Amino acid sequence: MYRDPVQSLEAPSLPSSATAMRPLRVGMIGIGTVGAGTFRVLTRNQALIAGRAGRGIKMVVVCARSLARAMSVVGKDVALTNDPMQVATHPDVDVLVEAAGGTGPARDWVLAAIRAGKHVVTANKALLAEHGNEIFAAARQHGVAVAYEGAVAVSIPIVKALREGLTANRIEWVAGIINGTTNFILSKMRDEGVGFAEALAQAQALGYAEADPTFDIEGLDAAHKISLLAANAFGMPVRFADAQVEGITALQGLDVTCAEQLGYRIKLLGVAKRRQDGDAEGVELRVQPALVPATHLLAHVNGSMNAVMVKGDASGVTMYYGAGAGSEQTASAVIADLVDVARLQGTHAAQRVPHLGFHADAVNDNLAVLPRAAVHTRHYLRVPVHQAQQIEAVGAWLAAQQVPVLRVELACEKAAPNGMGPQVLVLTDAVTQSTVDLAVHALAAHPAVAGPVAALRVEMLEG
Ligand code: HSE
Repeated sequence: MYRDPVQSLEAPSLPSSATAMRPLRVGMIGIGTVGAGTFRVLTRNQALIAGRAGRGIKMVVVCARSLARAMSVVGKDVALTNDPMQVATHPDVDVLVEAAGGTGPARDWVLAAIRAGKHVVTANKALLAEHGNEIFAAARQHGVAVAYEGAVAVSIPIVKALREGLTANRIEWVAGIINGTTNFILSKMRDEGVGFAEALAQAQALGYAEADPTFDIEGLDAAHKISLLAANAFGMPVRFADAQVEGITALQGLDVTCAEQLGYRIKLLGVAKRRQDGDAEGVELRVQPALVPATHLLAHVNGSMNAVMVKGDASGVTMYYGAGAGSEQTASAVIADLVDVARLQGTHAAQRVPHLGFHADAVNDNLAVLPRAAVHTRHYLRVPVHQAQQIEAVGAWLAAQQVPVLRVELACEKAAPNGMGPQVLVLTDAVTQSTVDLAVHALAAHPAVAGPVAALRVEMLEG
């Protein structure tokens, strides 16, 4: 009789190979959105996960602020404590899951666990963006793994794709929508006319936003993630401090509607791009609201969904889509990391997939993040003018400033209602940011210009 292999794995008893080995013992700090989801999925899919890992994965101790609340999630069979360090260094723990978030204390717990010879799994992108280089160096020294698939675009296995599936490639760029909260806000504002504050409140209620939502809306969370992706893509250290970061708080609804008129949608993008051309050598590492063509796949990634595109020299463009926030969606990645750790039994540290995809001696410390002035993209400009006919003057002035103008037109009534005065919309060809900045600065003094000029990048991205 035919038996569905997945159904077989869901059978209550463990496969014989999985029962032979001692379970991987997990200590977890934090039982909030990520921690509770991890416990729930681990419990629900216990036999299936053991069948894949080759051994059981068992939560043995949890640290929580409220022990009563923790007990309501994990029951009586898991030890509970208020002391994170006790979990980090617990003699019965093989792997620490850091699910508390934050940077300072989390760094101390993770380093303590590593020094105690424990593997670490975390979805804490802020921690790794700020302290990753130190943490990975300590992990190398102590021969343990630090796994962080849940830190980037939660449900999407993009870290694994970059450092394993695409390992043959010279990566040219990685770009995408990697913050669920801001994508949710932009989608609500565009599709349902919901205001910024209300859309943010909804994202918080759904558990998408960070404890401090400033990280989401100011682009920092996306910058944490793109810094980790850049390190894996290009063999460079984590360079979050050098990233150029712009969020969506200064974005105007007027630019959303004007972009639509031109056939574009605005998305908060993280971009990491290797440049080796006549103008620059290094990496563009940036987060900003940018126009993407309305026909592009990224323009159709809505709500809290994420999507990441990777261009490899051999693979060409590949694209990965999935939930960008959420409890069990993050748990999916955290448990995948736990399974990877469970499978490490008996492997030598030097034979494992390196933390950042490249072995330490192959990491290029000299690969610089390019300054803002060197970034090279197309641009969108919106120039408020006193009278519609001044469109001619604006076009001519920009051309004289060495800005390669592709298209100039007036915003229609639907995009910019009459009370706002005439708005000249400009699309440029690819040009360095320094040229655009100079031109925008000069336009501010132009007699035809009636107010601040809005400038946004345009990303064409293949695919
Ligand atoms: N606050 C994050 C987001 C959660 O909205 O993408 C997942 O990293």
